[in-house]
Amino acid sequence: MTFNLQSMLSISTHRRIWRRKLNWVAAAAAVVAIFLLGFSLFSASPNKTTQLTQLSEMVPLTLISNAKKTGAFCLDGSLPGYHFQKGFGSGTRNWLLHIEGGGWCNTIASCSYRKTTALGSSKYMDLEVKFGGILSSDPSENPDFFSWNKVKIRYCDGASFAGRPESEINKGAKLFFRGQLIWEAVKDELLSLGLSNARQALLSGCSAGGLATLIHCDDFRDVLPKNAKVKCLSDAGFFLNEKDIAGNHTIQSFYHDVVQLQGVSKSLNKDCVAKKDPFKCLFPQEFTSSIKTPIFLVNPAYDFWQIQNILVPVSSDFHGDWSTCKRNIHNCSPNQVAILQGFRNSLLKALTNFLQINGGVFINSCYIHCQTWIAETWHGPASPKINNKTIAESVGEWYFNDKTVQQIDCPYPCNPTCYNMVFP
Ligand SMILES: *[C@@H]1O[C@H](CO)[C@@H](O)[C@H](O)[C@H]1NC(C)=O
Ligand SMILES: *[C@@H]1O[C@H](CO)[C@@H](O)[C@H](O)[C@H]1NC(C)=O
Ligand SMILES: *[C@@H]1O[C@H](CO)[C@@H](O)[C@H](O)[C@H]1NC(C)=O
Repeated sequence: MTFNLQSMLSISTHRRIWRRKLNWVAAAAAVVAIFLLGFSLFSASPNKTTQLTQLSEMVPLTLISNAKKTGAFCLDGSLPGYHFQKGFGSGTRNWLLHIEGGGWCNTIASCSYRKTTALGSSKYMDLEVKFGGILSSDPSENPDFFSWNKVKIRYCDGASFAGRPESEINKGAKLFFRGQLIWEAVKDELLSLGLSNARQALLSGCSAGGLATLIHCDDFRDVLPKNAKVKCLSDAGFFLNEKDIAGNHTIQSFYHDVVQLQGVSKSLNKDCVAKKDPFKCLFPQEFTSSIKTPIFLVNPAYDFWQIQNILVPVSSDFHGDWSTCKRNIHNCSPNQVAILQGFRNSLLKALTNFLQINGGVFINSCYIHCQTWIAETWHGPASPKINNKTIAESVGEWYFNDKTVQQIDCPYPCNPTCYNMVFP
């Protein structure tokens, strides 16, 4: 089974009155199973570009030197890291954590490849990154969390911070499966920086980091003061256990291999693992409703990563009939759109229990993946909305007012406020 390596370098925006698209100026490369390396955004309008650059906040990388003691290493044995920006004003005792995404590795070969990238080694990580969207310090871009302590946690273990060292034995390769230890080292470090005194906290993450957010939400809650307000926000982390269009269990067998290789079972929901095959318990639909801490899911109904890798992986599209549709949702035939609607229905069905227990959701009908850390999609006059509310407004209402917020968009193509990804 092969997945595409998508190295997303940058995106430019074409604004139109009725709809906007995001163009990937991107390179597709390599064979191994690394998915999403992350992307950055800039606007086509010179004025807006200038503004974004002026407001951009570069935040330095900190390596966790204490990780040496516990052996909490990246895949290659290097130290894990994070970017930290101190809170100010009324945000001094509030904490926003954001876990970086970037797919998973399921084989010795793909994990070994990862060691040569920032997703497997801090040797290759940028020494500073831009904080945007939910991490921004600009109140117009990030109305509720701008003044909080903000942390971007770098992802370098390849198993959503859930791998275990016991699984390294007999694998015949110099690889460290230390995701769980990295998560613990990050928590300890942040607790010592003031997280232990938090009044309010939000653990968030996108993609594989959104999955890590769900896996670790309750144990995050447990280390914070009892009287603190603690919630979790998973962005594009609700990966569906669906068959692909050829009828193969592509994502399920991929998750099976990740869990097996990296010894993930012990980090997964215990009730789920007691009842089901552990690899099934890596799918949020199996455990999100039993998380005790309040959860909010931001997830597009047509998440392009999920369409490209779960529903229509290359291995399932024998004649390439889907290639133009996968590059641009507006190119999909009526038949293909019907299949995409089926995928949306599966998502809504998988969310039934979660919605019944008043879980928070923002399910927009856009062809996108990760919307919280990008200014354009998080909050702004032109950002995607449901019922006239941006993602930031919906999350804010849910976080602060303890209201049930369930924003579910009408099916594609009804929402003119979408950013839809366009691949070259
Ligand atoms: C930028 O915006 C200002 C008004 O906001 C306008 O006068 C100016 O011409 C714009 N510059 C460019 C390069 O578009
Ligand atoms: C997917 O299923 C088809 C039959 O529907 C089979 O021929 C093919 O080998 C399978 N592909 C993979 C990658 O398992
Ligand atoms: C949408 O929200 C904006 C900003 O909150 C508000 O100014 C506008 O009146 C709203 N539009 C509608 C149609 O409710």
